[in-house]
Amino acid sequence: MSEIQFYRPTGKSVWYGKDLAKSTEWTYQFTSAALAEIDRNLTEVKKRGAKIEEITKADFPLTAMAEDMKALIQEVAKGRGFVVMRGLPRDKYSDEDLGLIYWGVGAHFGRPIIQSHQGDRLGHIMDLSDEEPDPTRRRAYHSGGPQHTHTDASDIVSMLSLQAAKTGGCSRLASAHTVHNVMMDTCPGLLRQMYEGFLLREPDSDAAAAQRPPLSPYRVPAYTVQGDLLDCYYVGGFVDRGVRAGDFTLTPVEQAAKDAFAAISNHPDIYLDMHLAPGDMQFFNNRSVLHGREAFEDFPEKERRRHLLRLWLKVPEWKPIDARQGRYSSDELTRNWEASAQKHRAAAAE
Ligand SMILES: [Fe+2]
Repeated sequence: MSEIQFYRPTGKSVWYGKDLAKSTEWTYQFTSAALAEIDRNLTEVKKRGAKIEEITKADFPLTAMAEDMKALIQEVAKGRGFVVMRGLPRDKYSDEDLGLIYWGVGAHFGRPIIQSHQGDRLGHIMDLSDEEPDPTRRRAYHSGGPQHTHTDASDIVSMLSLQAAKTGGCSRLASAHTVHNVMMDTCPGLLRQMYEGFLLREPDSDAAAAQRPPLSPYRVPAYTVQGDLLDCYYVGGFVDRGVRAGDFTLTPVEQAAKDAFAAISNHPDIYLDMHLAPGDMQFFNNRSVLHGREAFEDFPEKERRRHLLRLWLKVPEWKPIDARQGRYSSDELTRNWEASAQKHRAAAAE
C-alpha cells in the first residue's frame, strides 16, 4: 500500500458547498431563443416519429445557445463539474415530451447508456419500495429516504425534475476532489485506504443479468490517478451490501476510512443542496462530483410522488475510466444488461 502516490487536485473542481450556495454562477437560464428552438426540435422529432433512443444531438440542434452549450460542457468536464439548466416551462409539456426534450439536450453532453438490468436508458427516480419490496434486488433509485453521497456508474449523470417531493428532497452534490484534499490534510492514512479501495457487492438482479457474481473479484479503488486526472468511484452502499451478505468484514482502518469519507462528504460545509424545480435539469461529472439527497416527505399516491428522470452519459472524448472503477459502466456490462432486458421484453410480449 505504501507506494500509492496521492495526486492533489487544484483549481475550480475543488469547491465548498457553503461558498457555492451564495452564488448562482452554476445555473444557466434558458433564453427565449433557446426555448423556441427546443420547441421546434420537439415538433420535428415528433413529426418524424423518431424513437427517443434514436435521437442524437444532430436531431436536436441548439444553435441559439451554441456558445453557452460549449461553456456548459466545458464546465462539467474541466470546471466545477456541474451545471443546472433552468427555465424550461414544465407545465407546457407532457411527461413524454419533456423526456424527448431532456434526451435531446442531454445528447449534447454525451451518449446515454443503460442504467440497470431492466435496460432503461431514461431512468425514473421514484420511491417504488412498495412495488419492489426486496432490498437485495432493488436499486437505490427506486428507494425512498435520504441518500449518502456516492457516485453512479458513467462519465456524466443528469437529472430532470418532473415532480418535487411534498417537502425536502433537495439534490445534494459534493466535490470528490475537495473530500480528497480534506482527507489528505487530516487523515492521509485513511485516504490511502480509499485509494486501495473496497470489495463491492452490487444488487443480485444486476449481477445476474450481467452474468457475473455480485461480489467484485478485486478491491475497487475509490480514487485513481491517470496523469493529472483524479477520478472517484465510490458506492458505500455496495460495501454495506457485502458486509450484510457476509462476504467480508471490514478492518478497523477500512471502517474508519469509510466513516471519514462519509462524514466529510456529508458535511454541510462541503455539500451543496439545491432544489430542482419541475423542469430543471442538472448535469454533473460523475468522476469528480459525488451526489446524494436530502430526506423528504412524499405524497402517498404514485402519480404525485417525487419523480425525476435520469440519464447516464458516456463521453467518448474523455479518457476512459480506470478498468477497475469502470467495471460498473463497461461495454460488456451494458451488452449483457441489454441482452437480458431484451429477453425479458420478448418473454413479456408472448
Ligand atoms: Fe446515485
